[in-house]
Amino acid sequence: MAFAVLPPCQPPQIATLFLISLTAFGLLNTAFGERKLKFVTVLYRHGDRSPVKAYPTDPYKESAWPQGFGQLTQDGMRQHFELGQVLKRRYQGFLNETYDRHQIIVRSTDYDRTLMSAEANLAGMYPPNGSQVFNPNLKWQPIPVHTVPQGEDKLLSFPLPNCPRFDSLMNETKHTEAFLNMTRFYKDFLEMLKNRTGLENSTIESVWSIHDTLFCEALHHMPPPPWVTPAVMEKLRRLKDFSFQVLFGMYKHEEKSRLQGGVLLDHIVRNITESAAPDSKKRLKMMVYSAHDTTIVALQSALNLFNGRQPPYASCHIFELLQEDDGSFSVAMYFRNDSTKDPYPLALPDCAQYCPLLDFVRLTKPVIPVNWEEECQVPSTIRDTEVIIGLTVCGSLLCLLIGLLLLVLCRQRDFTDGYQHVINEDHS
Ligand SMILES: *[C@@H]1O[C@H](CO)[C@@H](O)[C@H](O)[C@H]1NC(C)=O
Ligand SMILES: *[C@@H]1O[C@H](CO)[C@@H](O)[C@H](O)[C@H]1NC(C)=O
Ligand SMILES: *[C@@H]1O[C@H](CO)[C@@H](O)[C@H](O)[C@H]1NC(C)=O
Ligand SMILES: *[C@@H]1O[C@H](CO)[C@@H](O)[C@H](O)[C@H]1NC(C)=O
Ligand SMILES: *[C@@H]1O[C@H](CO)[C@@H](O)[C@H](O)[C@H]1NC(C)=O
Ligand SMILES: *[C@@H]1O[C@H](CO)[C@@H](O)[C@H](O)[C@H]1NC(C)=O
Ligand SMILES: *[C@@H]1O[C@H](CO)[C@@H](O)[C@H](O)[C@H]1NC(C)=O
Repeated sequence: MAFAVLPPCQPPQIATLFLISLTAFGLLNTAFGERKLKFVTVLYRHGDRSPVKAYPTDPYKESAWPQGFGQLTQDGMRQHFELGQVLKRRYQGFLNETYDRHQIIVRSTDYDRTLMSAEANLAGMYPPNGSQVFNPNLKWQPIPVHTVPQGEDKLLSFPLPNCPRFDSLMNETKHTEAFLNMTRFYKDFLEMLKNRTGLENSTIESVWSIHDTLFCEALHHMPPPPWVTPAVMEKLRRLKDFSFQVLFGMYKHEEKSRLQGGVLLDHIVRNITESAAPDSKKRLKMMVYSAHDTTIVALQSALNLFNGRQPPYASCHIFELLQEDDGSFSVAMYFRNDSTKDPYPLALPDCAQYCPLLDFVRLTKPVIPVNWEEECQVPSTIRDTEVIIGLTVCGSLLCLLIGLLLLVLCRQRDFTDGYQHVINEDHS
């Protein structure tokens, strides 16, 4: 099952020479040797969807969309089906041709569009063949997509809620000169938006939703109202991209990352490290997360790789764990944000594209939270009450259990052994 990964692109001769002159000889051996792929983590955004909401004066209401707001469209399904096929091709020889439940786990946020995207993606990845065909008329087989309820998702839904320290960092961000300048610069524009959309207030943070609605409508050939000129759309786009920076970067970037994207990065790095353990008998080869643009931005901001633009539909951040022929491990990352191009190789700011695992862990450490609740300054009373409630519930359960046990023991004395046996057989 050896899977060799060739360097993604052949660097021009001069660049190679430059590299040789810079790189220690020992490194070179591994840099151009054969690498075996060991583990892959994939995080993608859902595909094309209807807008999440409409603004008050919007001529297109929820009924203009076949399934209402926030739903995956057929374009979105096609995008993910295509991404699934791309992943299948990319990992041919690494993943089995046929679906093997030990090799891949898919986890999604609990939204219709991310769950459906994951399903469309898997349909592209694992069309049944041979013995996996269960209905000859269907080039599809069921494959599980796991999720947790929206309120309990502490991994993929950003910004992560219930973090007071993050709230005050956001407040401080809004008092920075960069933010205030932006608000001043676009003051008239924001006023105009307020007037045209009928929204009660329009701020830099709420602009993304206006942009989102208009963007979705334009993609689906719904003619915009006259005030929506290309220049207005361009300004909206700039402000919307800026709002992603406001959320995850711009001010105390590292601390914000520890409270947000670092949580997911921690999880991913642990999973990767586990796969590199010498005695790893793990059969899991691919971990897939189906989530949102904010998930990708949170993660890429924590990695200090965010390119400042909202990740497009079905864009996909990939981590690959590779084993060099000297036995050491490295991590390579890619971002597929354009379906007409090969994924862009991404590298940590202070590491090579094939970043030695140990360096990867060391370089990401500053954004990995040690104790998230403490760093979020979650009031201890809340944590204490949680503990007290937990203890009370456990205590009560224990009492109940002991009670039941005693009851069962007492009743058992009343029955003969033969009678019990019959009851048991009846139930099997
Ligand atoms: C996956 O591929 C390996 C090697 O080709 C094979 O031994 C194994 O049986 C396959 N698993 C499934 C479920 O097809
Ligand atoms: C189905 O399996 C057969 C034999 O294992 C193989 O030759 C064929 O290419 C597969 N078809 C697809 C569509 O993967
Ligand atoms: C927000 O930050 C400003 C200055 O940074 C501070 O004066 C204000 O009290 C803060 N407000 C809240 C609600 O934390
Ligand atoms: C204020 O924001 C505008 C628009 O982004 C920019 O062109 C300008 O350079 C900024 N000025 C300062 C002082 O940051
Ligand atoms: C927008 O402004 C115009 C004129 O300034 C006013 O007549 C109109 O009522 C305003 N619309 C809204 C929705 O506030
Ligand atoms: C990897 O992460 C997933 C969920 O994100 C978790 O369920 C799983 O236990 C982890 N697997 C291993 C073996 O690291
Ligand atoms: C895709 O990502 C790369 C790397 O961050 C960036 O250079 C490029 O501009 C992005 N393209 C699009 C269409 O977002």
